[in-house]
Amino acid sequence: MRKFPILMIASLLSLILAATTSRSTHAHAALVRTDPPDSTVLAEAPSQVRLWYNEPISVSFSTFQVLDLDGKPVELTGIHLDELDPQLVILDLPQIGDGVYSIHWHVLSAADGHDTQGYVVFGVGNSADLNTAVTHEVQTAVPWTEVILRWLNYSLMALVIGAVVVVQFVLPRAQRRTVLTDSYLPARRHILKLAFYAALGSLVVGVGLYLYQLSRLLANLAAEATWLGTGWELLVDSRWGWLWLGRQATFAALAVLFGKMQQRSNWEIVAVVLVVGTAVLQALTSHAAAVTDLSSLALLADALHVLAMGAWLGGVVSLLIGIPAVAAQALPEQARQLRKEAWRVFGPVAAVSVGLLVFSGLVSAGFQVATPDAMLTSFYGQSLLTKIGLMLLMGLFGLINSASLHSRIAAPLARLLKKPAGWTPFSANHLPRLVLLEAGVGLVVLLATGIVTATPTAVGPAYLPYPDEEQPSAMTQSVEDMIISFSSKPNLPGQNIFLVRATSHRRPAPAEVAKVILRFTYLEEDLGTVSVEAQEIDTAAYRLGGGYFSLPGRWHVDVAVRRLGVEDSIGQFEWIVPPTAEPQPVLLSDQSLRPILLPLGLAGFLLIVTVGLILWRRKQRQSSLEDVLGAAETLVGAK
Ligand code: HEM
Repeated sequence: MRKFPILMIASLLSLILAATTSRSTHAHAALVRTDPPDSTVLAEAPSQVRLWYNEPISVSFSTFQVLDLDGKPVELTGIHLDELDPQLVILDLPQIGDGVYSIHWHVLSAADGHDTQGYVVFGVGNSADLNTAVTHEVQTAVPWTEVILRWLNYSLMALVIGAVVVVQFVLPRAQRRTVLTDSYLPARRHILKLAFYAALGSLVVGVGLYLYQLSRLLANLAAEATWLGTGWELLVDSRWGWLWLGRQATFAALAVLFGKMQQRSNWEIVAVVLVVGTAVLQALTSHAAAVTDLSSLALLADALHVLAMGAWLGGVVSLLIGIPAVAAQALPEQARQLRKEAWRVFGPVAAVSVGLLVFSGLVSAGFQVATPDAMLTSFYGQSLLTKIGLMLLMGLFGLINSASLHSRIAAPLARLLKKPAGWTPFSANHLPRLVLLEAGVGLVVLLATGIVTATPTAVGPAYLPYPDEEQPSAMTQSVEDMIISFSSKPNLPGQNIFLVRATSHRRPAPAEVAKVILRFTYLEEDLGTVSVEAQEIDTAAYRLGGGYFSLPGRWHVDVAVRRLGVEDSIGQFEWIVPPTAEPQPVLLSDQSLRPILLPLGLAGFLLIVTVGLILWRRKQRQSSLEDVLGAAETLVGAK
């Protein structure tokens, strides 16, 4: 029993380490760059289109359609991943004529099964007018079927986790505080029965999640894709499928185990390990698996969050359902005593779980929300704030319940209201109804969580703060005998016109300029470098149009001036692309939340562990002292 927390933490750590050592990190798949860039008009038709995403893509579950001006699809000659880069999708085009084309993409993350979609437009030939491209709005509505499935998943998972915590940790302790032996056995059986049905329910919800995933894929894939073929492929050919199989196997094993444990066999430790396994598997398919740095910390926080929510919410429901079974088999006074002891032992478990929930939640929020303004303005942030509000309400009910049980907790309120010592806000008889209310709000918190987890997170370049320094409209550099200037208009993410002026100040100039090549490198993250030749539009003036600044932030632009018989003169420009045309008003703050929330969450976690250890040691000492005193009393009595 004493090994319980150590065992839990050890299995959690080893599972997360095992799961993270052999994998890359993942996110809701976002298109970060294309070649040709979005909104570019090319002089000649390309033979390939390259699309870079911020995570590996499952090409067999993704679709790419190139439509011409009339909306007619261009038959692609190939769709494949780059051999060296699983985040780069290459579309092989047939010979296409002048015109405007739009690429509609719908991709499945190879990691977490989230799908995303969007489109890119490009033109071929001087007469191409990009405004005429065939596009359709990308839907961003809340996927309610997914939200409900996630809600059911979390609720049943909470029951499974809570049942194990109560059976393994709460009931045996409560038993030791009462005089009747085995008085909690009916509760244990009742709770295990509930856990058995919850594990079975989780299996059914798992099937629902699988069918939902499959139906979304089939809606997107070609007409010849079948439920059977694609269903099998999804299981054995994607990371999502393997994790899903692991999840189902774990819940099936737990259902069998709960059946066995009802007959009093000692399988508790295996149940604890399996329950930790379900939390880790859940974390591996969540947004936490999308974090690219400190990914083990993000996964650990998420898995702990799931365990803590199960211990609290599932624990409350397990006791609510289990305790009446005890009452039915005992005298009223004994039943009252048994009920009280069980809730008393559960109190500290609930308090630690709430602490862990809050601090692991803060760490997760630090990973998933870029800034306080992103929290206020994004749908993700707003849903998270709603969830936190509901959590506070739930915490308030929890506090009222604890105060009704422990007059010590109610003491400050009693003093304030001038009530006698030992006063509690409600009598213990009201407890079941109050606890039911707490559990009810918990279920609403889980619904809000379903929305949060089904929504794209509020991090990424879109949430970068507006740069402090103002970008001059043009920059000029002197390189050897050349004077090179560079400018970008409107200088926003997306399509821009780049103008270069390159003249030699030596007279006569050593050589004619043959070519001007621009090389774009994004400095906020590794997107590689794109090289493009600018067109001469006037003497010493060169122009390039296109979406080469695909994201806001800092860019490095090399302007290479090539002349015959002379080494390239390369102007190097550090260039800032602001996220919007105008600085957005700062609502609260546009500074990163991560440096605040991560240390806060970790410090809170350490505080809980330290206080827990101190209290535990004090209790140990107290109980050994009581043992010694008890032994001495027996000895004296015997004499
Ligand atoms: C201060 C309080 C809390 C904060 C800041 C918080 C924050 C978060 C964050 C940021 C996530 C990650 C969502 C994602 O994957 O995009 C999350 C997930 C989750 N939260 Fe909370 N949370 C809090 C309280 C709670 C409570 C009270 C419950 C339930 C009783 C809860 C249950 C969950 C569950 C089930 C998940 C899903 C984990 C997964 O899918 O892996 N949270 N929370």
